[in-house]
Amino acid sequence: MHFLFMRRCFDLARLGAGRVSPNPQVGAVLVYEGRIIGEGWHMAYGQAHAEVNAVRSVRQEDRRFLPDATLYCSLEPCFHHGKTPPCVDLILQERIGRVVISNTDPNPLVAGQSVAKLRAAGVEVITGILENEGKWLNRVFFKWIQYKQPYIILKWAQSSDGFLGKSGERTPISGPSALRLGHRWRAETDAILVGATTARVDNPRLDTRFWPGPSPLRIAFDRNSQIPQGHHLLDDTKPTLIVGPERKGNWQHTRFIDTGLHDGIPGLIQALSSENRTSLLVEGGANTLQRFIDQGFWDEIRILENKRRLTGGVRAPDVPGSAVLNERAVVGDDNLYVFARP
Ligand SMILES: NC(=O)c1ccc[n+]([C@@H]2O[C@H](COP(=O)([O-])OP(=O)(O)OC[C@H]3O[C@@H](n4cnc5c(N)ncnc54)[C@H](OP(=O)(O)O)[C@@H]3O)[C@@H](O)[C@H]2O)c1
Repeated sequence: MHFLFMRRCFDLARLGAGRVSPNPQVGAVLVYEGRIIGEGWHMAYGQAHAEVNAVRSVRQEDRRFLPDATLYCSLEPCFHHGKTPPCVDLILQERIGRVVISNTDPNPLVAGQSVAKLRAAGVEVITGILENEGKWLNRVFFKWIQYKQPYIILKWAQSSDGFLGKSGERTPISGPSALRLGHRWRAETDAILVGATTARVDNPRLDTRFWPGPSPLRIAFDRNSQIPQGHHLLDDTKPTLIVGPERKGNWQHTRFIDTGLHDGIPGLIQALSSENRTSLLVEGGANTLQRFIDQGFWDEIRILENKRRLTGGVRAPDVPGSAVLNERAVVGDDNLYVFARP
């Protein structure tokens, strides 16, 4: 039963993807005698935590069951006063009898203190339920708390014979379902990056038009100012960061950082960290992706492989030998492969 309700917490938690950064995605479920009497999730940064929403959702006639109910949480309830009061105090105040947790919160402000406080107050606490799934769900948050650096996802679409596209021209590869999934991933990350050649040749918008959700910060490497004026990434309609020399203009949403270095990756990561951007989706092309791989700046690789063959063009990067295949799925006409860093 613990697994069933914890999986429900994970499903609820995922509903906050793209809206809670730099906070974790958290879901909570209240169960009395096998029946869910309340549930909630952390919906947006600065708003109520999952536990608060779960308690609020309990119907008046079910409130009397709280002392005998179990609260399932995908992450240890918070201990500290942040933008909202500590959830651990809410649990004590509502006299909830038992708490079941997947992961303890690695945030030093929590770090097991809520578990200890609940136990000291006589609440039964069980931890470590589906712990690995919980860590995978919040892998972005876990990296952020540990290193204060964005979690880097390398993503590309390739033909069945291993090409990203024809040289010098935009080459659609993915089917409609894979395209939508790609836009969902964009909506779930804080920033999205392409290399200078992709920005010039493909003229991408880097938005989320095929998925409802927030648009991430758009970023392009452009050390030699090769993106033509009038291209989407220079249309100044959305927050955009160009890693390259500043261009003249009355920019409202576009910023430039010129590190003056041949390699813009370390400077970019530093800039994203200082803005509390916890995740970066790198969408190509091959040269850009390979440079992230060669320097070890990656946490996850997502490949969407279509059945079509191109027989030549820009070769897909080599997946590092150390990468672990973590997920394989069929997405419409495409196969999805997700690799994790060991
Ligand atoms: N199938 C897919 O998923 C996919 C995705 C994206 C693109 N593509 C295709 O891939 C092709 C382009 O790929 P590409 O490999 O030729 O080029 P690219 O990776 O898009 O761009 C390479 C250029 O970006 C700049 N750059 C890359 N890494 C950098 C770093 N660490 N620091 C500073 N600048 C950096 C450099 O510009 P400078 O030389 O000016 O320094 C470099 O020459 C396009 O034709 C596009 O259609 C396919």
